[in-house]
Amino acid sequence: MTARIVPILPETIAIAAEILSEGGLVAMPTETVYGLAADAANPAAVARIYEAKGRPRFNPLIAHVSSWAMAERQAEFSGLARALGEAFWPGPLTMVLPSATGSRVSDLARAGLDTVALRWPRHSAAQALIEAFGGPLVAPSANRSGHVSPTTAEHVAADLGDRIDLILDGGPCSVGLESTIIGFENGEAVLLRPGGLETSSISAKIGRAVHARSQTDAINAPGQLKSHYAPRARLRLDVTEPAEGEGYICFGPGQRGGLNLSPKGDLAEAAANLFSMLRALDQSHTTIAAGPVPDEGLGEAINDRLRRAAVRDPD
Ligand code: TXA
Ligand code: MG
Repeated sequence: MTARIVPILPETIAIAAEILSEGGLVAMPTETVYGLAADAANPAAVARIYEAKGRPRFNPLIAHVSSWAMAERQAEFSGLARALGEAFWPGPLTMVLPSATGSRVSDLARAGLDTVALRWPRHSAAQALIEAFGGPLVAPSANRSGHVSPTTAEHVAADLGDRIDLILDGGPCSVGLESTIIGFENGEAVLLRPGGLETSSISAKIGRAVHARSQTDAINAPGQLKSHYAPRARLRLDVTEPAEGEGYICFGPGQRGGLNLSPKGDLAEAAANLFSMLRALDQSHTTIAAGPVPDEGLGEAINDRLRRAAVRDPD
């Protein structure tokens, strides 16, 4: 059985919400990447997510909400966390917060941690689905573990089509990179994963620095498996002259050949194209060379994903 790919309509949202309330799995578009959604409160449904993705272990998942009221039932917000949410929600920001007593997010979805990762996505279809379902939905990126995150419904179908119940097709994701994950330590914001929201916009908005995560840190953001985003092909970084027969992914004006993330040098456009271009080259080549991308703004997250994709999966 292959999951049906359906357009976003009031009827398909209602069907999707029904599937979720019966413990099923629905792929939903968000502005970052497609998520594989399940009822956060249902441990059996959450277990099916890990099974479908082939996750090596129970990583904690992001719980997606569609209102402040729903967010506040799941987690405790400090003043800083609230200010961040007010500035950037709905949007590509995830915050790791102390779990609230009475939170609906199951222990399994939190991997037993006493914190919960929360995001209020901006995509109208994700919002409509959470609303129709009436509670938080956990959703990791809708790809098999270790694969590149999906930015179209077709990517989801190729990876998980035979393992899930329904795919909502909202077209290509506008941001194209996973959300930026922020944690809190001693009252300060800490960057756990660079992503679709620029770190500099966060510090500018809140008027204080976002700290880098210390290497020794016990906070577990396991998505930080080094090879998390690995394609099958070998990937070489910072290549200006690709070798004969290599797939080439590059950035900016004046580049010849290969796939250009953004010929006009726009990092937002590059982010939106990154995963689909990596997938395309992965299908046609055994080695991919990546040209340099400036390490500023969204380039920080793009380079993070490229570095991870270049590490061979240790398992
Ligand atoms: O843009 C996104 O964030 C997408 C869309 C679907 O929302 N989701 C996504 O989920 O990228 P996933 O499961 O692929 O990555 C979630 C990350 C993981 O690195 C996980 O370890 C971290 O969030 N995480 C979740 N709960 C956490 C917690 N309580 N403490 C620390 N890290 C946590
Ligand atoms: Mg992922």
